[in-house]
Amino acid sequence: MRLPEKFLDEVIARNDIVDVVSEYVHLTPQGANYFGLCPFHSEKTPSFSVSRSKQIYHCFGCSKGGGVISFVMDVENITFLEAVEKLAARVGLQMPHVEYDPKDRRRPRLLELLRVAARFYHETLYRERDGAAAREYLDGRRITKQTATRFGLGAAPDDWTALTRHLSDMGYTGNEMVDAGVAVHGKNGSVYDRFRRRLMLPVIDQRGRVVGFGGRILGDGEPKYLNSPETMVFSKRRLLYGLNLAKNTKRKEFILCEGNIDVITLHQAGFDSAVATMGTALTKEQVQMIARYTSELVICYDNDEAGKKATERAVETLGDSGLQVRILQLPRRLVDGVPVKTDPDDFIKLFGADEFEKRLKGSGSPAEYKLNELFRRFNLNTDDQRVEYLKEAVRIVAGLQSAVEREVYAGRVAESAGVSIQAVESEVQRARKRVEGAKKKKRDTEVLRVEEQRQPKDRALRYANMRSASAEEGIICLLMEDPSLVPYASEKLKPEDFSSEFLAKVYALILEKDEALEYIPPAAVLARLEPGESEHLSKLLQSPAPARGKKAADDYIDVIVQEKLIRAGDLNALAAKYRQTKG
Ligand code: GTP
Ligand code: MN
Repeated sequence: MRLPEKFLDEVIARNDIVDVVSEYVHLTPQGANYFGLCPFHSEKTPSFSVSRSKQIYHCFGCSKGGGVISFVMDVENITFLEAVEKLAARVGLQMPHVEYDPKDRRRPRLLELLRVAARFYHETLYRERDGAAAREYLDGRRITKQTATRFGLGAAPDDWTALTRHLSDMGYTGNEMVDAGVAVHGKNGSVYDRFRRRLMLPVIDQRGRVVGFGGRILGDGEPKYLNSPETMVFSKRRLLYGLNLAKNTKRKEFILCEGNIDVITLHQAGFDSAVATMGTALTKEQVQMIARYTSELVICYDNDEAGKKATERAVETLGDSGLQVRILQLPRRLVDGVPVKTDPDDFIKLFGADEFEKRLKGSGSPAEYKLNELFRRFNLNTDDQRVEYLKEAVRIVAGLQSAVEREVYAGRVAESAGVSIQAVESEVQRARKRVEGAKKKKRDTEVLRVEEQRQPKDRALRYANMRSASAEEGIICLLMEDPSLVPYASEKLKPEDFSSEFLAKVYALILEKDEALEYIPPAAVLARLEPGESEHLSKLLQSPAPARGKKAADDYIDVIVQEKLIRAGDLNALAAKYRQTKG
């Protein structure tokens, strides 16, 4: 589907980017631009800039950027079409009647189907016979009816075709059911229900749309959880269970746990900021999603070995997200002398919400957690274990950013191992010198790789010929600022001359616009690019074109044409060209 260009231009022109962004971000004018805290990553000092004259935004921190449409897409997490609809409605523009490509209809249709399925499961939960086992299971886990409603919980009946029959009555095809992840292809074109005799947990995205399901077996058996497969609308790495509710919490901190049921129990106990990944490791995307709603995150994974490993990995992933991270470590529990796993759900049932709240308040930094773990692993009564313990502890302390923290933890380490603070501190100093040395080396190599930094972040757009690409970027910036040069450039330079396919596409878009414009609104070009492309272009356009005038255009064109000849191996033409430039 394609919206008429004129309409898109109208939507962009009427929605001033500064006004639109201001609805989400507090902006303050600073020079020619506006600055605010980036909505796409967590930060304390504003590096998110918006240009009214160019109608674009760019974050110097996370390098997201684009025009008003891409801003709305990202901040609302919606598609291009949905963003255009929203912006059109914002200024009272009627959406034009367009021929929908069947492909664009598939998404809304799947979402609709999933909502129908969720309602079906939820209703089944309260059916006399079909819902009995699931209701009993919920009782056993002390999940109330109110909570079940809040999470939209349901029951999949013990039947191979209960849902598929229902959906087919509602007009959905078997293929649609399979695409939505709720049915599976059987023999000779038939389909059957993916979920049978399970407690159904709809997965709801940030915008309140059902995008998939988790299904827990009722009682023991394998697999314990059956989740929707990856579909057009269900991507585990971009979803957090419970975020649709957690995003409205009044609590300061979010709680990240491992299991769906943990989320449910925590919410029921008043911890309505709990979320969980869908049984996979925490991803960068999920971190970004969390950072949009909070600046504090408490990790509370299961206290078994797997949970500990997952905690360390999550801390790594959270690295420089700007989120303040704490770790709530659940107590070890022994049953008949054997340690058993405890998760937040078990903990709340055993010790109650108040006790959980206490531990939440008392949860410590990742460093504290790591040192505790270390302390537990070593037997500090033997000298060689003590030395090993100190070595690893020093490495953790040396990695801390703040001098105050380093001093505090160095003191604790010294005390725990029964050595002097001075000894630990001098070891920490040495370790830091090593770390600093390694960092400096890294900085040096980074300086050597300035070229690397000029590359688009999107790997698919990487420049193969940097000299040419720089000139291509140059002429694009020049023409967008001064379209009076477009006819001149279009005579001498064709999109085919470009080394970068992406820049050639931008150039072609500029050539389409050779009317008597004073300057080409970047947003009008950005709206026609892919996200990675518009991100890079908006970064380029953030600073004024480095050179102006016909002479500058000639210089850029020369480089581009020369490089093209070199790529083609046409040395004769190159020599002629060289003579011509000289003369
Ligand atoms: P309960 O026994 O219901 O309390 O489970 P739990 O919440 O304690 O879950 P557990 O720690 O076993 O697993 C945590 C999460 O991993 C679950 O919420 C699921 O998302 C996922 N998971 C667990 N078992 C399976 C499985 O067999 N298959 C899949 N795909 N995911 C699973
Ligand atoms: Mn559990």
